[in-house]
Amino acid sequence: MVSQLTDAFARKFYYLRLSITDVCNFRCTYCLPDGYKPGGVTNKSFLSLDEIRRVTRTFAALGTEKVRLTGGEPSLRRDFTDVIAAVRENAAIRQIAVTTNGYRLARDVAQWRDAGLTAINVSIDSLDARQFHAITGQDKFHQVMAGIDAVFDAGFERVKVNTVLMRDVNHHQLDTFLEWIQPRPIQLRFIELMETGEGSDLFRRHHLSGVVLRDELLRRGWIRQLRSRSDGPAQVFCHPDYAGEIGLIMPYEKDFCASCNRLRVSSVGKLHLCLFGDGGVDLRDLLQEDAQQVALEERIAAALSHKKQTHFLHQGNTGITQNLSYIGG
Ligand code: GTP
Ligand code: 5AD
Ligand code: SF4
Repeated sequence: MVSQLTDAFARKFYYLRLSITDVCNFRCTYCLPDGYKPGGVTNKSFLSLDEIRRVTRTFAALGTEKVRLTGGEPSLRRDFTDVIAAVRENAAIRQIAVTTNGYRLARDVAQWRDAGLTAINVSIDSLDARQFHAITGQDKFHQVMAGIDAVFDAGFERVKVNTVLMRDVNHHQLDTFLEWIQPRPIQLRFIELMETGEGSDLFRRHHLSGVVLRDELLRRGWIRQLRSRSDGPAQVFCHPDYAGEIGLIMPYEKDFCASCNRLRVSSVGKLHLCLFGDGGVDLRDLLQEDAQQVALEERIAAALSHKKQTHFLHQGNTGITQNLSYIGG
């Protein structure tokens, strides 16, 4: 029996990012610029509710305390509320989070809360409605902002917002973003643009290093927080005049992977040890019956023993990865 998932570098993995669909109705320039195409990355069916139940039960037995549901856009699954409820069946999993484009929040967040959802991350790349449309391909800025209000109305105390800050696209909105979180308990996470298979040109033109942002925040009196167990690779900053916080996700920094605490399972049941450059280990054949759980635990633990210390992006590995809607970001 395996108990707690640990790798060869003494990192503990108590956080599972589970992608439940590749489908997305947005077309973010850095992710799915031409929109979702059926069979684009894989033509297999997405994990069924029973397979999701088995994979989360197994990870719970291996020490997982937090499951993030991602995609694609996870809420496009008709059974999304049932998926949340299925994850909640595991008492050991204390946090159930979702990363969403916000499209369904205003309509459904109360239902998700009732099913057991505990945390919400929403992608918002611009506070300008026209630019939001240009980046995401959807004229849904006001709907997504109403979704953020709905999250607070539903009783969530905080929300995280993901913003990919790109040079000469939206980085001049830094002040607008800071004003926005001044009175609001939002953790705004600036994510460095990552190079993907389809996005090399975008990356060359618009990649902005998080170091530039970090220096700017420090200059303006933001204070770096000590890393807490739940931060993972994000660096968090606070300011006495702001209700909100800033998180910086800088995957090209040398020490980024040292605090890695997460494993990924794709929408077709492959285990990925890193967002960058790994082909994945198929788990699906062991998700067919409850009696396969011990074999599944062993396969996961064996795969983890091969996890590399770092993705080596800072040493010139281009890290070209598939679009992130497949692995779930
Ligand atoms: P918390 O669970 O709230 O800490 O957030 P998270 O950053 O793990 O989740 P979220 O889905 O909101 O992540 C936002 C984005 O950060 C992802 O879509 C990725 O782009 C990036 N990200 C998250 N984890 C990793 C990681 O391990 N490596 C890299 N390179 N990027 C990551
Ligand atoms: N670079 C950085 N972040 C990305 N995401 C998707 N593709 C990329 C990329 N190429 C992240 C965004 C979005 C989340 C769902 O996935 O942060 O908010
Ligand atoms: Fe959809 Fe998220 Fe990719 Fe945007 S980043 S296209 S919202 S999966």
